[in-house]
Amino acid sequence: MCGIVGAISERDVQGILLEGLRRLEYRGYDSAGLAVIDRAGQVRRAREVGKVAVLAEVIQASPLHGATGIAHTRWATHGEPSQSNAHPHMSGDHLAIVHNGIIENYQELRDELKEAGFEFTSQTDTEVVAHLIERHYRELGSLLQAVKAAIAQLRGAYALAVVHAAEPDHLVVCRAGSPLVVGVGIGENFIASDQLALLSVTDRFLFLEEGDIADIHKDRIQVFDRAGTPAERKVVRFEHGVDSTDKGPYRHFMLKEIYEQPKVIKATMEGRVTDTRVLEQALGTEAGRLLENIRHVQIIACGTSYHAGMVARYWIEDLAGIPCSVEVASEFRYRKHVVQPDTLFLCISQSGETADTLAALRQAKQAGFRAALAICNVPGSSLVRESDLVIMTQAGPEIGVASTKAFTTQLTALLIFTLALARHNGLEAGREAEIVAAIHQLPGQVEQVLALDGEIAELSRAFMDKHHSLFLGRGALFPVALEGALKLKEISYIHAEAYPAGELKHGPLALVDSEMPVVTVAPNNDLLEKLKSNLEEVRARGGELFVFADKVAGVRSEDGIHVMQIPEVHDITAPIVYTVPLQLLAYHVAVLKGTDVDQPRNLAKSVTVE
Ligand code: G6P
Repeated sequence: MCGIVGAISERDVQGILLEGLRRLEYRGYDSAGLAVIDRAGQVRRAREVGKVAVLAEVIQASPLHGATGIAHTRWATHGEPSQSNAHPHMSGDHLAIVHNGIIENYQELRDELKEAGFEFTSQTDTEVVAHLIERHYRELGSLLQAVKAAIAQLRGAYALAVVHAAEPDHLVVCRAGSPLVVGVGIGENFIASDQLALLSVTDRFLFLEEGDIADIHKDRIQVFDRAGTPAERKVVRFEHGVDSTDKGPYRHFMLKEIYEQPKVIKATMEGRVTDTRVLEQALGTEAGRLLENIRHVQIIACGTSYHAGMVARYWIEDLAGIPCSVEVASEFRYRKHVVQPDTLFLCISQSGETADTLAALRQAKQAGFRAALAICNVPGSSLVRESDLVIMTQAGPEIGVASTKAFTTQLTALLIFTLALARHNGLEAGREAEIVAAIHQLPGQVEQVLALDGEIAELSRAFMDKHHSLFLGRGALFPVALEGALKLKEISYIHAEAYPAGELKHGPLALVDSEMPVVTVAPNNDLLEKLKSNLEEVRARGGELFVFADKVAGVRSEDGIHVMQIPEVHDITAPIVYTVPLQLLAYHVAVLKGTDVDQPRNLAKSVTVE
């Protein structure tokens, strides 16, 4: 999704801006651009379709010197990916703007501005904002005032950064529905849509709140809240290691992140569980009060986070014995819901900035849910700031677009939360201790699965020339099958569908033949015997099976069945362990196919627009 970077300094900022854009590449984009105010007070701009590297080459050939600048990676929403639609957009030759998000009333504003004589050179909603600010600038003679006046007319969700040739000593930025952080330097300051973009220049950040406008000079930052009143925003230090944006010895971020899982699962457990029980207080001082008398849980999320929510539903109903509903945020936000009394609203999001998830949360607050809990990976994100209770996953920055370590740490956090909730609902201490012991085993078990990497790489060859695949699971392993299918389709572009194995006969069996690999996650649980019958149904149709199972499950490799042996795990923690081989499978298939593993086509890491 779109990324913003900006800088104001004594020195040339083009290098800082390009480095920031490179660090945002993982979010997905289709074009990139940069504008600076040069020493002669002129706005100079370069924009290119394609990768940041293409833009960097152009700038190397024809440098853009200047100490104030803004830059952008664009993920097309209004208008195709093209040079003229790429940001920064300009009004005349003196005002430049970059924008994330969507302006809903752009068409009527565009008509108005055209009538007032402004000429448009792109199809974007952003160019409308550029001209609108310029129109106000002509009247008010101040960039800050002009931005304030313009945004009062905007409807939608956006983050903006604006420069003006007549005022080269500052940037004006604002956020309303799209993330924006200010990086605090010494004698220089920066802005970005994601703090990762600025880690090479600072580790101190100031998070703007909804509706804030900030006036950024190289030696001072002034923030105004929604009402226009000067506001104080705390400066916080970046919490994760700076090396987290480096691939290290791994070929791709995705592989590095798969391998980090034992460490980050452990980090997510740390301080939250003893040997035998969950420390409720470690979930937040308010946790006890908020979890008391919860009678229903409503989970909302998107993508991989939604699959984590689906697993959590099995846990919540099984261990806490209270009903739980799960829904994708984009559906939830556009329908009427019946709010049961004492319902906990639970949002799961790696980024904490997914537009649909945030919109669902804001709606839920109005609708009268009892409290909002967030499971999130990004400190300071909108979701974290707007929730009553937050359980941070400790995955560290996740760069690969296809989510891996975020998912398994979400599951770890969700299981810990479930145990806390279940204790309020009569979970016996013995059962809690048994599950906590299983949680402690997770890092070691995931290590054991990672040791199968070579074998899984071999297995992946069977998928290379296939066009379709089917993933099966039952119970809490069904969402794991969904997640495995999602991983494969995201990065290898092979069509992958997941079904609860019991549904096989109700349709997908018609598709099964030797060209359709069938992947199954089959831990030794209550549903194993039923699952085995489902596997027979596939075998009888000539389907080739790839089964991930433990020794006890008793499924043996033979003609048409490839079994990958997974360590024996507790029933409850099985979804976490069984996810990992499916991540590795998708990864190796994608590598064999030669796709862009970390930045698959058409996808974005953080979907901050609807
Ligand atoms: C995008 C990403 C997915 C992610 C989903 C939800 O689609 O590509 O990996 O699962 O957004 O993102 P969130 O940050 O809310 O978990």
